[in-house]
Parts: sequence; structure tokens; C-alpha cells
Amino acid sequence: MNSAVILQIQSAIILLLMHIGVYIILKKKNRLLHAKCMGIAIAWDIILILQIELTRGAIAKAIKVPTNPIILNIHVGMALTCVLLYFVMIYSGRKILKGDKQLLKLHRFSGALALTLRTLVFFTSFMVVS
Ligand code: HEM
Repeated sequence: MNSAVILQIQSAIILLLMHIGVYIILKKKNRLLHAKCMGIAIAWDIILILQIELTRGAIAKAIKVPTNPIILNIHVGMALTCVLLYFVMIYSGRKILKGDKQLLKLHRFSGALALTLRTLVFFTSFMVVS
């Protein structure tokens, strides 16, 4: 199995974990399990980015924005936005767990955005492999 396939399989599992964490676990109102599941998915996603950097020098390729195909720039932009949103999710999620409901709106909105973007990152990743 080549490294691209191993990376795609990990990416698919992470995406599945995120959808299970939101659509299945939250439906059962298990907030703590939701937090744990999302925490694992986020940590694994950041480790996945490190693996992509180490095995394929992703940053050196990604920064050639003017000469890169537009789909690669879109893919990288969405992936970076996701990572930024992860910090918002962890911050707001921890506050909500402690009982502060003020950030619930932000958590919902950025959660929906993060999940949509992460799903698009997965599908566009098949268009940018070289
Ligand atoms: C990408 C990561 C995440 C996504 C996409 C996400 C998404 C969501 C969504 C859509 C809700 C439902 C809000 C509602 O309509 O009731 C929610 C609730 C919640 N999330 Fe997250 N979440 C993420 C990460 C986290 C993390 C890391 C934590 C904790 C450290 C956390 C803690 C919570 C809690 C406690 C609730 C329940 C709020 C309530 O209804 O009282 N989430 N999340």
C-alpha cells in the first residue's frame, strides 16, 4: 500500500469520527463523549497534516500559490481554515462544558463550517494528488 492510500484512509476515518461525533453522539445528548470524540479527531487530523508534510513536503508545494492549480489553492485554503476553526471549537467547547452557554452559538456556527470544509477537503484531496 503506498503512502497516499494510507493518508487517505486516515483522512476518511477522521472524517467519519467527526460525523459520528456530531450526528450520532450529540443526538444522544452525550456531550462528554462528543467532546472526547471530537478531541481525538482534531488531534489525529493535526498529526495527519504533519505526516503529509514529512512524507511529501506539503508546505513547500502549498506556498507556490501563483503557480499552483486553483483546486490545490482552494484545497489548502479550506484545510488551513479548518485548523484555525479547530482552535475555536476546542476553546468554545471547553467553556460550554464548564457551563458557559454564551459561546454555544459560535460553537454551532463554526462547527457546521468546520465540518463542511473538512468534508470538502477530503473530496478535493483526490483531485490534487500528484
Ligand atoms: C470540529 C470539531 C467540533 C464540531 C464540528 C462540533 C460541533 C458541535 C455541534 C454542531 C454541536 C451542537 C450544538 C447544538 O445545536 O446543540 C455541538 C455541541 C457541543 N459541543 Fe461540539 N463540536 C466540535 C468540537 C468540540 C470540542 C473539542 C468540544 C469540547 C472540548 C465540544 C463540546 C461541545 C459541547 C459540550 C456541546 C453541547 C452543547 C449543548 O447542547 O449544551 N465540541 N458541537
